[in-house]
Amino acid sequence: MRILGIETSCDETSAAVVEETGAAATPWAIRSNVIASQVSIHREWGGVVPELASRQHIRDICGVVERALDESATAWTDLGAVAVTQGPGLVGSLLVGVSFAKAVAAAAGLPLVPVHHLAGHIESLVLQNGELPLPSVVLVVSGGHTSLYLVERPGSYQLLSRTRDDAAGEAYDKVAKLLGLGYPGGPIVDRLAQTGNDRAVALPTTRLTHADRNAPGLKGDLDFSFSGLKTAVLRHVRAHEGPLSESTIADVSASFQRIVVSTLIDRLFEAARRYQAKSVGVAGGVSANSRLRSEVQERGARREIPAFLPSLTLATDNAAMIAAAGLRRFRAGVTAALDLNADAALTL
Ligand code: KG4
Ligand code: ZN
Repeated sequence: MRILGIETSCDETSAAVVEETGAAATPWAIRSNVIASQVSIHREWGGVVPELASRQHIRDICGVVERALDESATAWTDLGAVAVTQGPGLVGSLLVGVSFAKAVAAAAGLPLVPVHHLAGHIESLVLQNGELPLPSVVLVVSGGHTSLYLVERPGSYQLLSRTRDDAAGEAYDKVAKLLGLGYPGGPIVDRLAQTGNDRAVALPTTRLTHADRNAPGLKGDLDFSFSGLKTAVLRHVRAHEGPLSESTIADVSASFQRIVVSTLIDRLFEAARRYQAKSVGVAGGVSANSRLRSEVQERGARREIPAFLPSLTLATDNAAMIAAAGLRRFRAGVTAALDLNADAALTL
């Protein structure tokens, strides 16, 4: 069966066709994955402007879906279902995808499958690598989220911990802004960090020992926190006399990146140890980070636990991962009626 996936939760309009392979170990194959990025529009404002994002989704969605069908040589009658990101995300952006998916599902007489955006990021690992050895601990790290999930069975996602303040990608974007770099900041800081000295600036690591009162049931010491680190970078920059030189910016970037990556990886492997995981995964936009990618592989090799990553295209927001998670849910019997609504704060 082929499924059409639609993703519009933030600033990328994406549509994809993903097909079941019939092979249990590598269940899905990407037939097309079209992404229209709005980065050039939001760059001017230094971040995503929600109203501009939803308007641009409306302009792009028809063309993006048509191209995803064309590139995969898929007719509407070849599809078995339509999967769409229901949330979380920007509500105006989500509404474009959800409304469009409902309309085409109704018109083509296809079942509609609602997908959680983070389930999409987690399934991007399976789309890329095949089924993970379970149980697996997966770190989802993006502009809006930094969370650890335990996957005990295919399609089950148990939240172990999350960030108490900023997401890691958000911290990257804010640090880039205060260093006077462009938007989105993650890839720029990543590139500059490669030429800097990662011990040049003493920045704090956050240790969380007590449980988050707002999230009973979660293990507090596996939680994340990045706002203190961001403030330390801000103080360092403010204390600096005159404009920052290129090499200072590279040093700050490298020092910041070292702390973020080691915090993420320490918690991931600590959770893997506690839950006796047979594999670990890192997904979401920040999983495109070069240092995070190499360190997770290295630590995995040292601990003798396989570590999985998505390709760079599947790391940032895309509809192929939504289509894959949609196939998983559809096969578990989940479909939605046409009164489905977008949910900006949907929980997994
Ligand atoms: O998953 P994603 O595309 O969108 C959300 O669901 O948030 O993630 C976008 C985030 C942004 O904060 C961006 O700066 C960050 O991922 N990002 C990176 C890198 N590439 C993207 N952060 C660090 N290093 C990178 N190479
Ligand atoms: Zn995302």
